Amino acid sequence: MKILVTRKIPGNHLEKLNVNGNEVSVSEFDRPLTAAELVEKVKGMDAILSLLTDRIDGDLMDVAGPQLKMISNYAVGFDNVDVKAASDRGIVVTNTPSDEVNEAVAEHTWALLMALARRVVESDEFVRQEGYFTGKGGYKGWEPDLFIGPSVKGRTLGIIGLGRIGSMVATRAKGYNMTVLYNKHEPDPKAEVEMGIKFASMDELLSQSDFVSLHVPLTEQTRGMINKETLAKMKQGSYLINTARGPVVDESDLIEVLKSGKLAGAGLDVFESEPQISSELIAIPNVIMTPHIASATWEARNKMGEQAVSQILALATDQKPENLVNSEVWEKRRK
Ligand code: DGY
Repeated sequence: MKILVTRKIPGNHLEKLNVNGNEVSVSEFDRPLTAAELVEKVKGMDAILSLLTDRIDGDLMDVAGPQLKMISNYAVGFDNVDVKAASDRGIVVTNTPSDEVNEAVAEHTWALLMALARRVVESDEFVRQEGYFTGKGGYKGWEPDLFIGPSVKGRTLGIIGLGRIGSMVATRAKGYNMTVLYNKHEPDPKAEVEMGIKFASMDELLSQSDFVSLHVPLTEQTRGMINKETLAKMKQGSYLINTARGPVVDESDLIEVLKSGKLAGAGLDVFESEPQISSELIAIPNVIMTPHIASATWEARNKMGEQAVSQILALATDQKPENLVNSEVWEKRRK
């Protein structure tokens, strides 16, 4: 098979693709390919190992040619791939969900939550302020009112989207004796018993939670679901955390609500038009921003590489890959 890897990935997983006469072409650039570069590189490929920064639509699939059989997306999310266009063409799409990735994203959600509550980033900047060594900086010793924030213990955590990651975030709230509310399409009585959590309507969840954390995939239904109207329903002084996908939140509405003081802060790992972030958002001090690194643990990235490669190797030997996003296409897949 001819395989395009759109960007080098951590670890030595790609070496495993060099079997059975495969021709593997790995992008020479340590950055996402431009649309024009992608168009050039996909031509004649049987499989593409893509990253979430690659837009893979029907036109690109057609440019690749009728031999394109597979898109192995190195991510859990696959909103960068037009899955319907792939299915229509008999192209198999896979992703890389695993406990390791779920764990990593859940941990990062908690890192943002704790850092917001205890004002870790603002405090760090304060300690490092220019002038520290000359006694002219801000930090001069213990002060009774320095960087006070809420205790996390006993607060209410609202989880929107109770999939694998949302559930891992929920179970970690137990240690802080938090009340956990969740919202998904329908109540999950089994999860409620197992995790001691409660279903809530969106309105209840937003109005009762001290921390609201998003764990939904990006779809046409979830795009912009956190907007002026939903933000207005959030509790005064609460926090929003987004480790899911940027466009789930209307960023300009979020900026307004943060500036109004209704929200105490936001922890964002993803952005509406990443990597572009508005200067207004950058300027708000009670927002903690990380560069889409929620899954960046050694364990998660290792597993993602392993899965993205092994699914290509499976298809090459006509075996069903483990994480088929469009399983309905399997019987009528391109060969
Ligand atoms: C995913 O896997 O979807 C993450 O966002 C990538 O780190």
